[in-house]
Amino acid sequence: MRHHPPSAGPRFRRTPRSRLVGVLLAAAALVASAVPTALARTPDEPSETPPPATVGGRTLPYLNPHLPVERRVSDLLSRMTLTEKVGQMTQAERGAVDSDPSQITSLGLGSLLSGGGSTPTPNTPQAWADMIDGYQSHALATRLHIPLLYGIDSVHGDNNLVGATIFPHNIAMGATRDPALVRDEEHITATETRATGPQWVFAACLCVTRDKRWGRTYESFGEDPQLVARMETAIDGFQGTNPQDLARPDHVLATAKHYAGDGDTTYGTSTTNSYTLDQGVTITDHQHFDRIDLAPYVPAVRRHHVGSIMPSYSSVQWTDGGDGKPVRMSANKELLTDVLKEKIGFQGFLISDWEAIHELPGDYPTEVRTAVNAGLDMFMEPYEASQFESTLISEVQAGRVPVSRIDDAVRRILRAKFELGLFEHPYTDRRNIPTIGSPAHRAVARRAVAESQVLLKNAQGALPLKPSQRIYVAGVNADNIGNQAGGWTVTWQGQSGNTIPGTTILQGIEQDASHVTYSADASAPTSGYDVGVVVVGETPYAEGIGDVGNNGHTLNLSSADRANIDRVCGAISRCVVLDVAGRPQIVTDELPKMDAFVMSWLPGSEGEGVADVLFGKRPFTGKLPVTWPRTEGQEPINIGDRHYDPLFPYGYGITTSHHGR
Ligand code: GLC
Repeated sequence: MRHHPPSAGPRFRRTPRSRLVGVLLAAAALVASAVPTALARTPDEPSETPPPATVGGRTLPYLNPHLPVERRVSDLLSRMTLTEKVGQMTQAERGAVDSDPSQITSLGLGSLLSGGGSTPTPNTPQAWADMIDGYQSHALATRLHIPLLYGIDSVHGDNNLVGATIFPHNIAMGATRDPALVRDEEHITATETRATGPQWVFAACLCVTRDKRWGRTYESFGEDPQLVARMETAIDGFQGTNPQDLARPDHVLATAKHYAGDGDTTYGTSTTNSYTLDQGVTITDHQHFDRIDLAPYVPAVRRHHVGSIMPSYSSVQWTDGGDGKPVRMSANKELLTDVLKEKIGFQGFLISDWEAIHELPGDYPTEVRTAVNAGLDMFMEPYEASQFESTLISEVQAGRVPVSRIDDAVRRILRAKFELGLFEHPYTDRRNIPTIGSPAHRAVARRAVAESQVLLKNAQGALPLKPSQRIYVAGVNADNIGNQAGGWTVTWQGQSGNTIPGTTILQGIEQDASHVTYSADASAPTSGYDVGVVVVGETPYAEGIGDVGNNGHTLNLSSADRANIDRVCGAISRCVVLDVAGRPQIVTDELPKMDAFVMSWLPGSEGEGVADVLFGKRPFTGKLPVTWPRTEGQEPINIGDRHYDPLFPYGYGITTSHHGR
């Protein structure tokens, strides 16, 4: 059962905490580390006597920044108790510790996360940095002063923060076919995120969406695994390309997710809530799985050296081997250990998805044991950290989880912490706060929006628009920044309305033309206009909540959108339709009524980028990253299918010259 924070409610209000308190606590811990180590032990390990952390003020090897990372890891590992090791493998939600952050110290937590919408109040860069530094001070108060790693879903910009630069969602970035732009996007995202505290992002999604009915389709760069692989410059943008980059204030550790097959599940196989595709079963043979689902992970590991990977909630069921039963990725030793770590050579660490292990069969000790032994290294157990720790310790003590597996997991986690420079600089380097949402960052997002627009029809020279034209704009999504940003924006599910600063598509159009009328429901008189612009689309959703078949979600246009098209395109001699949605919508019957049709995706905070191409200030260059179906029933439909008769094929998109023609 998911307990994602629905919004930044009082439940997540943090206890104000100054950095000074943290420094004092850390100093107190240094003193404490000199006292007999029995104090640091838990009753379950009576015979363990760990070596002290500090000896007479001498710098221990793991604290020496001049030593190689592997040496520091080994030194630190050799000083750790089992309890401390298990603590490093545990990640809690900030909301679970905020009212009593001393739990970070007592549980020896290795990591915290902000789930979608788990924000400080006020939701400002300074409040984020103060909050995370406060938590950090409690981590530094542990016997060995191991810093905390803070993770967050920066999936289209630092999207939990109000005022961040919000980029188009990945599906739009796939349409740009511009890997350098994706790298720039994620470098900006890394800069804005790390300036506020988190040093780790749960991005990029390397999901290959094979069924547009999937609610996470917009998180995917596209249906072709090779396109997804090309866009792995995202990882370079996040992490940098030199080993030293990670420690800099403009980089973060990246996560490739959700390994693997999350976008390739069979409709109707999900057993979670009322989902239909998300968290379902990928029913496949090894050859197909390697070619479609696994392929993006090979360059992610070998070429881009991604620091962490999140196994998918979904299951894999082989049609060419095994016992023919679905195995959850969190329990999938074959794919986590044998394939990913051993064959592909992944050196980073595996982070379980939100309470993902709870979906495994058996009681809690069985779930924990199965997942650790399958190869998971860190556990996102948002509200169950304490139970997780005691359970795993017992499993190790009972000999059901080998100590070597624990050491391997902790080694991987500590390596990342050293590489991120956290032992030297545990607190937030805030120097880049002034760049958050800056004109320079927004300019890159605006360019991304423009490059992602896909022109699917242009008859009668309807586009480009001219500044002198009288323009009639209709449709709710023309002037709704929450809708154009989509899910994972300030809250997990996203929200309609005025949620973030930025520019709506309508505002962009108004900047380029002086005679613009806006009527959301097209009720204003339509006479006297040269051109109509009808914006149709979806309202925000995230994950399985947006699966078609769940909660009324469908690929079909709403009746209000169809009515707007009928009215505006029926009355005004030229009409342009924009689709603001996370996936193609069914427009087969409406297409003949339109002169021009543009897929705008979920552009984020910079709606002017849409106007830039509409008015020909930038050319249309976007190409479909997914196949556009004729009907919902045509799903799943993908390039390479034996019977392939879509409305628009994968890769389609009319390109125009610089002036929009
Ligand atoms: C979710 C998602 C995952 C995300 C995590 C943390 O359940 O599946 O993509 O990173 O929670 O918010």
